[in-house]
Amino acid sequence: SLAKNQTNMIGLIVPNIENPFFASIATSIESLLTEYNYITIIMNSNDSHHSEKKMLEKMTALNVDGLIIVYSNEFFFTHSVDYIQKKKRAIPTILLDRYIEDVESPQVYYNNELSGYITTKFLISIGHQNIGMLGANETLINSRHRYKGYKKALKEHNIAINEDWYVETAITFEDGYNKADQILRHGEVTSVICGNDLSALGFMRRAEEIGCRIPDDISVVGHDNIELNRYSSKPLTSIEQNPRKLAEYAVNKLINQIEHKSTNHSFYSDIILEPNLVIGKTTK
Ligand code: RIB
Repeated sequence: SLAKNQTNMIGLIVPNIENPFFASIATSIESLLTEYNYITIIMNSNDSHHSEKKMLEKMTALNVDGLIIVYSNEFFFTHSVDYIQKKKRAIPTILLDRYIEDVESPQVYYNNELSGYITTKFLISIGHQNIGMLGANETLINSRHRYKGYKKALKEHNIAINEDWYVETAITFEDGYNKADQILRHGEVTSVICGNDLSALGFMRRAEEIGCRIPDDISVVGHDNIELNRYSSKPLTSIEQNPRKLAEYAVNKLINQIEHKSTNHSFYSDIILEPNLVIGKTTK
């Protein structure tokens, strides 16, 4: 309320509102914040660091009471983090989904090293040795962590890592489609782990176009397990990252910080969620 010198507005910045994963997160966050009597201002950075910085300035100018940010897929994100942290009146902030090193704001995200590890272990367990990875990009720490888990699983099974089977940056339909050939041209991989479900769908489209059958010739695994999977006739095998859960933790943490202004340490600690592999019809 105004009496408490609050605007009752919370800023949410997401990297790609077209991605159902982030659309679901935004929907959940907004509905939870409404219950707490806050208005959510949603901005879409389009995975651009430049836009994100401008949006942070706008949110500050609007005097939002708190911020929830899913950072853009660009390496120099630390500038945005600095921007928030150096403000005189620090805005309570929660970082969501995309983990960032060395920040004070609490973070809520899935254990990405574990997701890389369990997807790779699963593919090995059903007989794959030549496992490719699409989306192991250096700019996103999530991807680096998934790649780490992937390498760990391969190592445990004495399977050599082949750099040709690893392609960077794949988080859109186009990425999956356009970069598929870089992996498929070698004619060696029998399975591919994708950066998310959108890139997995783009990859599948391209693979089928050039005559590969999914899953008979190539198995495909996505990340996020977007709701579309529940209604698709060929649901992806995918790592589930539950948007509602992410939203609940983020909102609870933020509201606690704003309303209780507590110094209770648990308000400032990170929450790391356990990913879970959902087996669909794209792996065999
Ligand atoms: O779909 C977007 C992807 O980027 C997700 O897997 C999420 O974890 C983020 O890193």
